[in-house]
Amino acid sequence: MSVVEISDLVVRYDPATGAALPVRRADVIGALRAAGDRRGARIAAAIPHHDGVLDAAEVERLLIRTHTELQRLNEELRITEQMAELLAPLLAAIGSDGERPLIVDVGCGIGYVIRWLAVTGVLGDADLCGVDFNAGLIAEATRLATAEGLSCRFIHGDAFDLPSRATVYISTGVLHHLRGRQLCAFFRAQADAGARAYCHFDIAATRLAPLGAWMFHRARMREPLGRHDGVASARRAHSDHDLMTAASPVSGLVPVLYRTVQHSNPFCASVRPILGVREQYLPALRTALGPAERHLTTRIPPPRLPW
Ligand SMILES: C[S@@+](CC[C@H](N)C(=O)[O-])C[C@H]1O[C@@H](n2cnc3c(N)ncnc32)[C@H](O)[C@@H]1O
Repeated sequence: MSVVEISDLVVRYDPATGAALPVRRADVIGALRAAGDRRGARIAAAIPHHDGVLDAAEVERLLIRTHTELQRLNEELRITEQMAELLAPLLAAIGSDGERPLIVDVGCGIGYVIRWLAVTGVLGDADLCGVDFNAGLIAEATRLATAEGLSCRFIHGDAFDLPSRATVYISTGVLHHLRGRQLCAFFRAQADAGARAYCHFDIAATRLAPLGAWMFHRARMREPLGRHDGVASARRAHSDHDLMTAASPVSGLVPVLYRTVQHSNPFCASVRPILGVREQYLPALRTALGPAERHLTTRIPPPRLPW
């Protein structure tokens, strides 16, 4: 039976315009019940609605609250530091041809990673941008960046129809939302957009991950939707094998794993990245990483999930 996340079901967009479409409560509940998820169906049933159509403003507030709690989780996981640890050598390796590099965070939510990169200035002279197809989250990201006086921007847009050409595309917690052919299409969209590299962090798929996610979200989140989706995310996280298999046919960007799940401490393997880099920059990336270079591999690991 498939695993679904409530946050994917309570929003719907017109593929042509990106405009939000009405969502019928019965459809959300039906999809959760069809997945055998009675608890998820109860959580969805509590969302306010008008004549069976979910109240869009309530859904927006709910998703902002959930993403704010998610930011706290990401702070604890030090996801920004982990991202910067790779982005800095990646930028050094790919060079810039005299232009400021543009880093675009795809599926940025309320923009935590981009705001952190802007406030710390850890990447030096770089343009920073976040993209998300949820206009409410983009508005919140913009509000927070303005309040903090940060030099970065946020754009309403789709990962499959990228609004600006980036030097490097990044993401956190997005890959597991992409199912089937979408995953390969996601990597392809970035290669086609002319990126020199990508770096996408997501939940490390292990047999222990759903239990770890349950404990972590139970302890740190209050929103039932966030707690529910946190565990669902861990249950449908892509294995290293599946990520590399989806990214390999995309010409132009060579997929690389860093700190593979297989070779990590099971209790510390919470998130890990997949990188893609144009082949000519791979030797320079190895040099820029120094001793950490030993954690890079271009090999596709076996399909079996560890632990
Ligand atoms: C789990 S949230 C992660 C948000 C943020 N990156 C973080 O780590 O807090 C996944 C995000 O991806 C966005 N998203 C999913 N599919 C997308 C697509 N095709 N285009 C743009 N954004 C997308 C969702 O709107 C949501 O904000």
